[in-house]
Amino acid sequence: MLFPLLSLALASAFAQQAQGAISLVPRNELNVVTPLSQAQASTYMPFSLFAQASYCQPKQIEQWNCPGCEQLTGFKPTLTGGDGGRTRFHYVGFWPKEKAVVVVHQGTNPKSLKSIFTDLHVTKTRLDSEHFPGVDSKVQVHSGFAAAHAQSAPEILAEARRLLAQQKSRRVILVGHSLGGALAALDALSLRLNLPKHVDVQAVTYGMPRLGNHEFVKLFDEKIPDFKRIIHQRDLVPIMPPRFMGFVHTKGEIHILENGSSVACPGNDNDQDERCQATTVRTIFRARLSDHSGVYPGNVRIGRPFCRNAHPAWSSGIARAGRAAVQMMMDSFINRVMNIGSLFSSAFR
Ligand SMILES: *[C@@H]1O[C@H](CO)[C@@H](O)[C@H](O)[C@H]1NC(C)=O
Repeated sequence: MLFPLLSLALASAFAQQAQGAISLVPRNELNVVTPLSQAQASTYMPFSLFAQASYCQPKQIEQWNCPGCEQLTGFKPTLTGGDGGRTRFHYVGFWPKEKAVVVVHQGTNPKSLKSIFTDLHVTKTRLDSEHFPGVDSKVQVHSGFAAAHAQSAPEILAEARRLLAQQKSRRVILVGHSLGGALAALDALSLRLNLPKHVDVQAVTYGMPRLGNHEFVKLFDEKIPDFKRIIHQRDLVPIMPPRFMGFVHTKGEIHILENGSSVACPGNDNDQDERCQATTVRTIFRARLSDHSGVYPGNVRIGRPFCRNAHPAWSSGIARAGRAAVQMMMDSFINRVMNIGSLFSSAFR
């Protein structure tokens, strides 16, 4: 793991700086960064809770009995898929408070997260015409994300259609953390292209990686104007895969700053304002993987260790503590690799 991570680190130290951003919006628009009030930021709390719940046990979701679930009053899960182990977990349900169908994707185990960091041969693939009808072949996304999306897309589309009709709803909200955020974004586009025009499609993601090329992002921004991707401080995942590999972020950045306040950053990879993520974390040497789990709006941490009542038995409590320890070790390891990397990096400055 060490070698590919280091070479990626070094490669990005050169290329990310040298190539800069190809801006999809005029430069002067990038300067209008807006601070969010406490009240505005807290409107995202329900989505933080939905995302957090995706890391709980499928049984807990079916019974809507998880830490934070009681705050999402009346939500009724109607479909769960995946097991949270070998296959990522997702759930769909109806949220009467917002008269909305909600689709939530779990993030991923650290193993596949690692492969995003270390895979120097990330390939892009066009969107398949079954789930993304009428999309140009130049529109391309990370092939791993596309493959993961294809697994759950048919049952999610079917369930969304069924619930919209049954509840006479006109609104779908997609939520996800980490790779789950990438899947939520792909779902948003896919549902937009497959559902009738009168249905509003909205998405909120947390710590989402980049997922496609310029053509993808142009299409996405046009089709899904109601999109927010929330990034906590110096999270590493959102700067992956790097820009020099041809990946671009969608619009909708909300960046949570070191002092806990948040700003809305216009543009795609806004590198014009020091408060936005592209500038705060210019290279992976400045990133912290530990920021990936939050704290997100509503004082919510998202990730497997934070679904506290996940296993009632004390024995699995130990397993949980073990997993948390492994996660912490991985974190500190990656941070250490980055510190080594930053020595190299400062030598080149
Ligand atoms: C937090 O930091 C930002 C950027 O440094 C600053 O503009 C803002 O005023 C600070 N907010 C608070 C509440 O201290």
